[in-house]
Amino acid sequence: MFTQDGIFVGILMTLLNWPIFVPLLASLAYLFFKNRPANPFTVQQFFKTFNVGGHRGSPIKQPENTMISMEQAKKEGADLIEFDVSLTKDGIAVILHDDTLDRTTNFTGPVRQYLFKDLSMINCAAKFAPTQQIANNDASNIAATQAAMPTLEEIVQWSKENNMKMLFDVKDSDAILVEQLNTLFDKYDLYETGIVCSFFPIVVYRIKKLCPRILTGITWRRWCYSFADLASTVPRFKGIAHYLAIIIDILNVWSIKSWLPSFLGVDMILTERADISE
Ligand SMILES: *[C@@H]1O[C@H](CO)[C@@H](O)[C@H](O)[C@H]1NC(C)=O
Repeated sequence: MFTQDGIFVGILMTLLNWPIFVPLLASLAYLFFKNRPANPFTVQQFFKTFNVGGHRGSPIKQPENTMISMEQAKKEGADLIEFDVSLTKDGIAVILHDDTLDRTTNFTGPVRQYLFKDLSMINCAAKFAPTQQIANNDASNIAATQAAMPTLEEIVQWSKENNMKMLFDVKDSDAILVEQLNTLFDKYDLYETGIVCSFFPIVVYRIKKLCPRILTGITWRRWCYSFADLASTVPRFKGIAHYLAIIIDILNVWSIKSWLPSFLGVDMILTERADISE
């Protein structure tokens, strides 16, 4: 006796035996889950006046990711600032590159272990040393010895007041952060002056899903999952994990060069200069 389920299973079995079925299913999933790109006009507005960006501010002359570093970048003629967004234990978005506070501040450990109020005494200039050449040649530049950790909103306010574009480098895919970015874009009308970028496709995907108007970018580097350094000499993992990471890297580069950017709906691809041929 035929039941509806029986017919369904029968059709499925027939399709599975059909060589085109798997690619067909993959294509349908691609089309179904794909994000839409931003309005081309907005994209044009953003890139029209973007010439020079200050990566973490001006980190050679002032401590990276601090307010004074952003001011320095502006003085040097940048029209965009790039900065890194992290979260505290109580979900406050702050500006910090690493997962931990050790390299740049006089605190230690992961930033996510601290409440925002416990960071009020932090010094983000504690480990900063300007290179000798700069220190000797530039008497006008006095490097800060004391700098607070800016909140994301402080940086956004400063950028709005100073007519600077912003590139948000987001490390954390926490839904709270995605929600906060959405709120900030709305509150300060950043749709033509801000772009949210990440190494992690999931961050970009979530932002674009929540708000298709926000400009986004995907960052990539060859061997970024398997090696910790730019020259690809320091493996992140040992043994089998290292080889798995290499496979992920190969799939990542293939995806970036084929379907991933349009699937995520990104407006920009950020690459490492060493990955560009001469
Ligand atoms: C970090 O530096 C600030 C300012 O210089 C200081 O008040 C604070 O006590 C220092 N904290 C630690 C843990 O060294």
